[in-house]
Amino acid sequence: MSHADDHAVLFGSGDELPSNHSSNPHLNELIGNGLRRRQLLAGGAALGTLAFLGGTLPAAAEAAEAAGRGPADFPFKRRSKLPFAPVAVTRADSISVPTGYRAVPFIPWGTPISGSYPAFMEDASNSAEDQAQQTGMHHDGMHFFPIDAQSGKGRTSDHGLLVLNHEYIDAGLIHPNGPSVVDGKRISAEEVRKEINAHGVSVVEIRRNLQGAWEVLPSARNRRITAATPMQIRGPARGHVLLQTRYSPEGTATRGTQNNCSHGVTPWGTYLTCEENWAGYFASSDGELPRELSRYGLRSSSRYGWETLPDDEFVRFDATRKGASASDDYRNEPNHFGWIVEVDPFAPESVPVKHTALGRFAHEGLVFAPVKAGQPVVCYSGDDAQNEYIYKYVSRDKYRSGRSDGRLLDVGTLYVARFAADGTGEWLALDIQDPAFQNACSAAGVSFADQGEVLINTRLAADVVGATKMDRPEWGAAHPDTGEIYFTLTNNSSRSEADAANPRAANAYGHIIRWRELSADHAGRRFTWSLFLLAGPENDSVGPNGQSLSADNRLASPDGLWFDDEGRLWIQTDMSGSQLSAGPFGNNQMLVADPRSGELKRFLVGPLGCEVTGISATPDFKTLFVNIQHPGEGSTADNLLGTWPDGPGKRPRSSTVIVSREDGRRLL
Ligand code: FEO
Ligand code: CA
Ligand code: CA
Repeated sequence: MSHADDHAVLFGSGDELPSNHSSNPHLNELIGNGLRRRQLLAGGAALGTLAFLGGTLPAAAEAAEAAGRGPADFPFKRRSKLPFAPVAVTRADSISVPTGYRAVPFIPWGTPISGSYPAFMEDASNSAEDQAQQTGMHHDGMHFFPIDAQSGKGRTSDHGLLVLNHEYIDAGLIHPNGPSVVDGKRISAEEVRKEINAHGVSVVEIRRNLQGAWEVLPSARNRRITAATPMQIRGPARGHVLLQTRYSPEGTATRGTQNNCSHGVTPWGTYLTCEENWAGYFASSDGELPRELSRYGLRSSSRYGWETLPDDEFVRFDATRKGASASDDYRNEPNHFGWIVEVDPFAPESVPVKHTALGRFAHEGLVFAPVKAGQPVVCYSGDDAQNEYIYKYVSRDKYRSGRSDGRLLDVGTLYVARFAADGTGEWLALDIQDPAFQNACSAAGVSFADQGEVLINTRLAADVVGATKMDRPEWGAAHPDTGEIYFTLTNNSSRSEADAANPRAANAYGHIIRWRELSADHAGRRFTWSLFLLAGPENDSVGPNGQSLSADNRLASPDGLWFDDEGRLWIQTDMSGSQLSAGPFGNNQMLVADPRSGELKRFLVGPLGCEVTGISATPDFKTLFVNIQHPGEGSTADNLLGTWPDGPGKRPRSSTVIVSREDGRRLL
């Protein structure tokens, strides 16, 4: 989601307002300033002297050499892994890819996929029921499951299930003439139902036809999950008193998922959709909010005003205390959100699962460390709001190929990261049984009744143990060979003081951090870290090769992140506001890096107003799926600021793009 410059309430930006008012200190207060000042002087050439930028981490270089790949610091022996001419910065209302490649829009918002397959109406006159049978709005995280992937080993590259999130909606575009609002209240249940149905996830069976073009298949597997789909709640918080609602007095079930940003793919072949800026969907008129709402930035009014309609399906977005107990109202409904949700794309009747053991925050996505049989499953998730944290989960039980399933995500330990200025880091357990956690709670004067309450209050628990406040953690990616984990930190206008891991105050351009676990199974408590990239213009940036960025690769606000099978890192941007309209970066873009050589080149530029997000590929690497979200952002029916992909006079639509080589060979 783009980060608008203002936060108008109804239909305004959905980005979370900063809500971390904890006093856990920045690193420089903890460890003194000597190292920090030497390493982290911001601006211009000083950045180029950072000792820990460029190349891979030492342990990773050793691993690469052991694998017979040659020294990491001597790339010239090797053929470039990026053999294409970089795309220039542009503000065209179209997609740009390198010479020799093509990019074709696919399944834009409103594409019929199920039921009666209702055709998309260009005047946005499709009904709420139609919308529940069409792809949703605002495509984001995405994964291609080969059709033979049910066993977790799919290799088919011409037939599969494309599964993607629909993060949010543009109320100005989803209805023929915008939303109907009177005195700040919604008046049309049909309109709000359509908005609810445009959220969630699409599962779309697709196949290449004889001409080589991808098509949607009519299929019983095609499915829409929306912000109203029944779901079950599992893990330590299942049945918790803080999850009791009128809909589920037992606190075990809920309806819908929303603001699904990035995603995850489990080692057992299911899809995870992640609830990011969900707090803005709720309102509470209560004077004083409980900590499980206030620490997540709930306000007295919501983004879309769904709660202003009286029916139960809408009033659940009003968290005001109205009844005698929690099972009489929806005071706890916001506690049903902020989770990671598991969807089995091959089982269209399956009930999605909210996994509470993974914590409750503004989950951007979930990235798994490489798994091995007999070892625990380890995964990482960022909390995308200013000054929030990065988390890791370690399953209690061991992974067993072909036998493990989502139960591994129900019992385990959640940790939060503390980055030290010397390049080391520590995972701090958020576990009510852990003595260090108990001591931290006592010292902070904070108490939790049980682990369920810890998880419902994940942010507070992380405050208590002194996690490192980060510059809006977005996507993560695991290097397929070294197991290093990379994370984008998109920007942070509210950072007033730099620290080692977030080295620029008022970080306008963002950066990419990476770490390597000290234990081979990823499950330990210690890691080493370095910075991979400081984004920005030529005079305020450091690329993966230790040099300033150039016309071929300058970027800002990195967001989407993905490793292909050959260890190339794909980076997608989500700039907004003045950065997008007047910066030296042009429209949002996608770049690709070779971490071993330090090469970085721009591969794609999106149309006007969009963000580039979501990426997946077929196993043969001949088809790349990329999502273009909110092209022509800010458009309304009578004021089109962009018209991609349908062209002049047509409403802009979020869409997947299929990128391939004109000669039909592997992409790179
Ligand atoms: Fe939905 Fe953090 O981007
Ligand atoms: Ca973003
Ligand atoms: Ca994002």
